[in-house]
Amino acid sequence: MTLDARQYTCPDRFAQEKQRIFQRLPLVLAASCQLPRPGDFSTLEVAGIPVLLVRDKAGAVHALLNSCTHRSAAVASGCGSTARFTCPYHGWTFAQDGALLGVASSADFGAVDRAALAMKRFPVAERAGLIWAILDPDSPHDPGAMLGGIDTLIAGFGLTHWTMIERRVLHGPNWKLAFDAHLEFYHVPVLHRETFGPERSNRAFYFTHGPHQRVIAPQGRPGDVVPDDLYTLGRLPTSGEPIDPLLMGEWILFPGTSINTFYIGGIRCVLLSIVVPGAEVGTSTTTQTFLAETVPDDAASAAMRETSAFLAHVVGDEDLPTSAFQQKVIGTGLVGEVRFGRNEGGLQHFHRWLGRALDSDNAALPALLAAPCPQ
Ligand code: FES
Ligand SMILES: [Fe+2]
Repeated sequence: MTLDARQYTCPDRFAQEKQRIFQRLPLVLAASCQLPRPGDFSTLEVAGIPVLLVRDKAGAVHALLNSCTHRSAAVASGCGSTARFTCPYHGWTFAQDGALLGVASSADFGAVDRAALAMKRFPVAERAGLIWAILDPDSPHDPGAMLGGIDTLIAGFGLTHWTMIERRVLHGPNWKLAFDAHLEFYHVPVLHRETFGPERSNRAFYFTHGPHQRVIAPQGRPGDVVPDDLYTLGRLPTSGEPIDPLLMGEWILFPGTSINTFYIGGIRCVLLSIVVPGAEVGTSTTTQTFLAETVPDDAASAAMRETSAFLAHVVGDEDLPTSAFQQKVIGTGLVGEVRFGRNEGGLQHFHRWLGRALDSDNAALPALLAAPCPQ
């Protein structure tokens, strides 16, 4: 399969992706356990859109445009816990659901329609321990209705009450060049020969579920007796069947999220990687969030942080610099196309689905995403 290389650098194509992918599709923005208690909040930016995630008193998660309705300053930064938000510019205050609570020196504003001056709210759905949102306050769609059952499969991970160990943000080039490196293992024994080692397999099985997929190297855990079809997406293990083979490998949630499983000190851990565009065509962020199934003791926690730092090194010092070079040379206009082999099926599936979702009109989009076909 070949791809026109300008798809990685063309500002018009990028504007379409921002609008038709990142503001129409449900995006994984965080793990539920990043906001375990009422009042917990976290901020992030997707395609130049600042987002504030917050859990309210009743336990519901809100996804808000992180922008004060007075003159657009950021209402919150970083992450933390708070009963209400106070804008750091002039002091307007907002509730956990974005409602306007207070106007500083309100007499100087006369009568204010508070309901109309709530922070903008994005449609949000919390499923399977992940928080999905559609970054369009006027979207006609319900994010939970567009997951096509992938949330049921992810529920098998049991992520809901896990513990966050670490979170870091890595900066990279165009979001697709950054994400392409998640979609094949062909490069693993070569680019990562110093980190993962040259003996790693460069092949992968690709199992797809609508636009989503699972990429797994053709080796299981020693001693596991695994029914062949348990490696596929689309069915959950019955009782007594080992769940581990289904969790290993890399789960890809369209458009830009991946989940990798590890066992550290006997505790199941995942690295949740969320790749999103920056504000410009040649920028992206990869947010790596390292989660553990149970609260680790000091020794296990140290081992998890070590693994987390190792994975940041692999992606930040090996994958992303390679992608940045691709971006630079494609940007010269001297590269006509890039090519994907049969062993890079994950890339073929991803780029085909990207085209399909871009081309879909609004009315057809939910059905396209909700049906786990065509592949
Ligand atoms: S911009 Fe927030 S109070 Fe002025
Ligand atoms: Fe890699």
